Amino acid sequence: MGGDVNDRIYKISKKLAHLLPSGLAYRGAHLAARRDFERFVKDRLGPYFVPVDEGLPGSHDVMLTTAAMNEHELRTSMEAHRYFARAYQTLRGWLKALESYSFNLRTCGAVLELGCSSARLIRHFRCMEGVRVVGTDADSKAIEWCRANIPGIEFYTNELSPPLPFRANSFDLAFAASVFTHVPLEFQQAWIEEMCRVLRPGGFFICTVEGWFNQRRQLSAEERARSRAERHLTLFPGDPSSSLSTKALDSWDVFQLRDQVIAAFGSVFKILDYKPGVQDMLILQKPLEVKVLRTLSAHSSVGLKSLAVALN
Ligand SMILES: C[S@@+](CC[C@H](N)C(=O)[O-])C[C@H]1O[C@@H](n2cnc3c(N)ncnc32)[C@H](O)[C@@H]1O
Repeated sequence: MGGDVNDRIYKISKKLAHLLPSGLAYRGAHLAARRDFERFVKDRLGPYFVPVDEGLPGSHDVMLTTAAMNEHELRTSMEAHRYFARAYQTLRGWLKALESYSFNLRTCGAVLELGCSSARLIRHFRCMEGVRVVGTDADSKAIEWCRANIPGIEFYTNELSPPLPFRANSFDLAFAASVFTHVPLEFQQAWIEEMCRVLRPGGFFICTVEGWFNQRRQLSAEERARSRAERHLTLFPGDPSSSLSTKALDSWDVFQLRDQVIAAFGSVFKILDYKPGVQDMLILQKPLEVKVLRTLSAHSSVGLKSLAVALN
């Protein structure tokens, strides 16, 4: 009930943000979302809930490579109340959704975020005493910032292709928000298999992919037609439609059609849900018995620039 009311407060705040200084409009939403998230965790973990300092939102440089479709989005995503309100809302929504698939926060001992950037999401798992909390990103500058600013988390820089430095079956829950939206298809299958490898049997993986909403928002009619014909479209930093963060990180914006997403993720995971949104959200589960995955090889010396050259 409280959650529904706060969802409404958040939506109203979003509308008000156009009229008021956004700091003011989002302050209430931030506090309400934090209270809801903490209550959710406390209800499940009791004394294992330990309040932690939220820390700082990501720096300008980190956020530039993180959440920026354009200059306006960069400015608003860095605003502290909005940054935190959205993170709490997202996490509570995910954990609630997972519970309908028998996920139990009380039996969750290790959590991993792939593409954590400023640790916007993973930092909030620190309030769960005794849980191993891990963040990894291909952007070493983001990881440096996290190590300097967000205590209590293991951070790693990973290469653009697997493997991750973790044993098989290490995590109960993993997530990757707005990451597969930047992973070229040539690397996607390997990443899907890697995320499956590091999860325990029955473990959950939440990730987002670009859906129809952003295809309409970001792509020209000609690009949409191409994406439909080829079942996917990759934008490069030089493409006029590519996002500001893709240009800043020398990365890619990756759009896929639903059949392609279902075939790729469904080849390894059980797809529990595929929910449309600004980005579409996949709720995935590692089957209890997993097919033998093909051996993954590290492209350890591949940097962003050289990979871009290789793909072009
Ligand atoms: C749009 S940002 C999202 C950041 C974070 N998940 C969030 O929601 O705030 C995408 C992040 O994914 C990272 N990334 C892209 N490809 C990656 C890969 N193959 N492995 C790890 N991180 C990757 C980028 O460096 C960037 O920090």
